[in-house]
Amino acid sequence: MNAEKLHPEVPNKGKTYVVAVTGASGSIYGVRLIKTLAETGARVLVILSDAGRKVLIHEMSMAADETLLAFLLRYGVDKGAIYRVETFSQEEIASAPASGSFVHNGMAVVPCSMKTLAAIAGGYADNLITRSCDVTLKERRPLILVPRETPFSVIHLENMTRAAGAGAVILPPCPSFYSFPKTVTDVADTVVARIMDHLGAEHRLTLRWGE
Ligand SMILES: Cc1cc2nc3c(=O)[nH]c(=O)nc-3n(C[C@H](O)[C@H](O)[C@H](O)COP(=O)(O)O)c2cc1C
Repeated sequence: MNAEKLHPEVPNKGKTYVVAVTGASGSIYGVRLIKTLAETGARVLVILSDAGRKVLIHEMSMAADETLLAFLLRYGVDKGAIYRVETFSQEEIASAPASGSFVHNGMAVVPCSMKTLAAIAGGYADNLITRSCDVTLKERRPLILVPRETPFSVIHLENMTRAAGAGAVILPPCPSFYSFPKTVTDVADTVVARIMDHLGAEHRLTLRWGE
């Protein structure tokens, strides 16, 4: 079944998002976000950090020699939607999201390691992920950071405060349980739903309170 049949109205058609997956635990959040955006009609530019690849291999059984697109297809991203996903390594610094002239609807770093958080907070744009975040902030576009560590040190907290002050939304992966999620995927989707909301992307991942 193709994506249009699964999501007949493709509500995010015409929108473009940048999703970075870095080397914090919780790759499932990034994968679910990419799948949901693509299957609801959005174009998705995905940047995978070197450490993010290692965590995907560890947590989601990505094969060491597998491309991200091949992994996403194997994970279950609809064949009719995968052509909307473009992938980049952190080294591809001359790619579209590195420039403010490339217009998109928002960027999310999911999950966001403390290292990448520090680079964003410090304006240290040393790879395609941190440069794209820097550009997204200067262009005043939505930037959603999903920082994963526990507990947080004062350094982590100060970096989050600094990034929030520059316009980023700090959206920690704190799942909710009021929709009675039954599987790990359902739990992850309670977080992905909030990321979609903050990106201004339509979805039907979870019931909303009051529905
Ligand atoms: C399996 C695994 C899990 C990790 N989990 C975290 C984490 O939850 N948070 C974090 O900040 N770093 C975590 N790290 C360490 C980061 O991967 C490391 O700091 C790396 O340099 C981050 O690089 P990146 O931000 O470019 O992806 C983890 C590493 C591995 C191998």
